[in-house]
Amino acid sequence: MPALAKRRIDLINLLLERGANPSSQRNRENALHIAARSGCLDCVKALVEAGADVDAKTKDGKTPLHLAKFKGQREVADYLIAHGVILPTPAPISKKLAAADVEKGRASFSRLCAYCHNAVPDEGGNQGPTLWNVVGRDKASVAKRRYSDALLAWQGVWTYEDLNKFLLEPMLTTPGVYMEVPGAPDETERTNIIAYLRTLSDKPIRLP
Ligand code: HEC
Repeated sequence: MPALAKRRIDLINLLLERGANPSSQRNRENALHIAARSGCLDCVKALVEAGADVDAKTKDGKTPLHLAKFKGQREVADYLIAHGVILPTPAPISKKLAAADVEKGRASFSRLCAYCHNAVPDEGGNQGPTLWNVVGRDKASVAKRRYSDALLAWQGVWTYEDLNKFLLEPMLTTPGVYMEVPGAPDETERTNIIAYLRTLSDKPIRLP
């Protein structure tokens, strides 16, 4: 860990050659998380070549790729993608929306989302953008918001399936995202939340 903090790639290589654990941990994270965040490409390469898990999560669910993208470490991000990181894609939920439980979705939203997001037409000072009219809205388009590059790079409007993917586990499906929360990994809960989001509009988009 001290060699990594000083980016002493000579020492890192020497230690790894002598059997140091490439998945060494400190506090809540692995060596690879530290290397990815700081953008030390040589350190990342040495650790991955020695067998570090490119998909390892910190205690709060951050992957090396998320940290690299969050910090704008492009070369590291490209290297990790080329070395086996797979972005998860959930099964489609569109057909399940008509039977979803909007009230349960509202309750989950209150518990998981409302402390950052408004559900009213207002651009005010919350941590996350308002989700009024979010279904069918251009991604990352609320005025005067500073969005992550990750979200700005995702083209098109929010469809039901894009929300399904995003909310599965935002840091995994959309590495680099500013919304560093677990999302709603459970399909039923996620579908209910999306059905509720649909109602946040004067003219809800029709169900698929
Ligand atoms: C800790 C605060 C926080 C929590 C909790 C949170 N979000 Fe977010 N959300 C954000 C931030 C910040 C962004 C902007 C992300 C970016 O720019 O990368 C965002 C973006 C979004 C977007 C994209 C909006 C747009 O304008 O394109 C959607 C949709 C969204 N969140 C839905 C949810 C849902 C649904 C939940 C609950 C399951 C949730 N969020 C929980 C902070 C949060």
